[in-house]
Amino acid sequence: MAAMETKKLYIETVGCQMNMLDSELVVAALRKQGYALVPTPREADTILFNTCSVRQHAEDKIYSALGRLKHAKTQHPHKVIGVLGCMAQKDQQLIFERAPFVDLVVGPGQLHQVPELIEQVARDRQPRLEVSLDRKAGSRQAVAGSFESYDPLRDPEMRPTPHQAFVRIMIGCDKFCTYCIVPKVRGPEQSRPPGEIVAEARKLAAEGCREITLLGQTVNSYRHRAGERTTRLSDLLALLHEIDGLERIKFVTNFPKDMSQDLLHAVRDLPKVCRYLHVPVQSGSNRMLERMKRLYTVEEYREMLHRIRETIPGCAVTSDFIVGFSGETDDDFAQTVNLVAESRFKNSFIFKYSPREGTKGFELYADDVPEEIKRQRNNELLAVQNAISEEDNQPFIGREVQILVEGPSKREAKQQRQAAGDHEAHHDQTESPGPMQLTGRTMCDRIVVFDGNPRQIGHLLNVRIYDANAFTLFGLVATSHVGPEVYSLSLS
Ligand code: SAH
Ligand code: SF4
Ligand code: F3S
Repeated sequence: MAAMETKKLYIETVGCQMNMLDSELVVAALRKQGYALVPTPREADTILFNTCSVRQHAEDKIYSALGRLKHAKTQHPHKVIGVLGCMAQKDQQLIFERAPFVDLVVGPGQLHQVPELIEQVARDRQPRLEVSLDRKAGSRQAVAGSFESYDPLRDPEMRPTPHQAFVRIMIGCDKFCTYCIVPKVRGPEQSRPPGEIVAEARKLAAEGCREITLLGQTVNSYRHRAGERTTRLSDLLALLHEIDGLERIKFVTNFPKDMSQDLLHAVRDLPKVCRYLHVPVQSGSNRMLERMKRLYTVEEYREMLHRIRETIPGCAVTSDFIVGFSGETDDDFAQTVNLVAESRFKNSFIFKYSPREGTKGFELYADDVPEEIKRQRNNELLAVQNAISEEDNQPFIGREVQILVEGPSKREAKQQRQAAGDHEAHHDQTESPGPMQLTGRTMCDRIVVFDGNPRQIGHLLNVRIYDANAFTLFGLVATSHVGPEVYSLSLS
């Protein structure tokens, strides 16, 4: 059928950076097979959703997007509709029951099969379900083996952000926090061999990538054993630091209990490693932390924070919080507010507890904090954090900071989209040489917006900060590291 030969792909991604990386890799694999991305499902022959199950809202979003496709599928039965990722692993057959027109359900451990599965479905018109073993369905080895890390060779042509890349260093999670679905849907913790990671980073650097962000659910638990030799995250950072061309290395997300001294020393001593640590605490109440099975106390977290601040001057720390977890009283919440007030996080991500079937928390504890209280606590905590973020950004005013220029600012990108008829996002920034509002980040992960030139994208640049709010520093280009042709604003 002619319609099938056009190979137009639409993909929608929700969830964490792990999912963004998975989508990038799946898209790259399909583009190699001749697929082109299109901006709406209406134009596509293949429609994929890369899904997240961490909160109910993320699942609802996908199920309603699927619902909207029902009609399109009746009208155009040749369209292939696929559900990938965490919700595929969690809901499995249920997805076919709720959306019978779905052709393909593929877990995060089977993503390498996607191109072939699409072909098979298009040919045989038989729905396919490919997922990993449930965590209790076999030996640890068997279950781990059923979650295959998807790390094909990167193709520079296919990378959406040429100067920045995510690099997976481990998959899965073994912590089993009682609220969290991730260990179930992403499987057992498995660290990638350091040789593979270094080879991937080297290739990225050779292709012009300046910054890599190492990904793992508990990235600082990274540990790879080969014979007598154990490689920890600190060792891996030292290896990656040697790579020519790489300027910056970040890693997310850290688990508080695994924030070892050797890692803090690596961040302190390796100049390419960003002074930025995302170490979620989740709650300021020991009673809640115990119920969440976070394996540390507020006192231990405080001690860790103290060690970070003492060891790595200028290090930004960020956190996640869950408000309204089962049994959370006003007093528990007040303790969380106190912890935020004293900890001076650069920013915090705050989530309302969402019970997840398949977790211990769902089994053991009632979702007994009313939605309205969750909402109030969310807003209150956010207000406290935002006031701190704004305060802690003020000292940057008047200072010169070095940033890695990432691309057009949000405002600029929006204007470009509108100029392009709200259709195709502007891909080739080098085409428009005029000045534009750009965005970059400091070594401590603060966002800086400034007026610059598209040629500066992907370069390190010194800017002087003249204003700051809770989320953004505003700067003027001071000096440059990119050669004479670069556009530079004179400081008044
Ligand atoms: N591996 C990371 C991230 C896990 S998911 C970590 O350990 O921190 C990202 C964040 O989502 C978590 O830090 C937590 O704050 C939040 N989260 C996880 N499960 C949740 C749930 N059931 N309801 C609300 N928020 C949740
Ligand atoms: Fe979820 Fe806890 Fe694992 Fe993070 S450490 S992914 S919150 S179980
Ligand atoms: Fe969501 Fe899966 Fe990431 S559940 S947060 S996409 S690991």
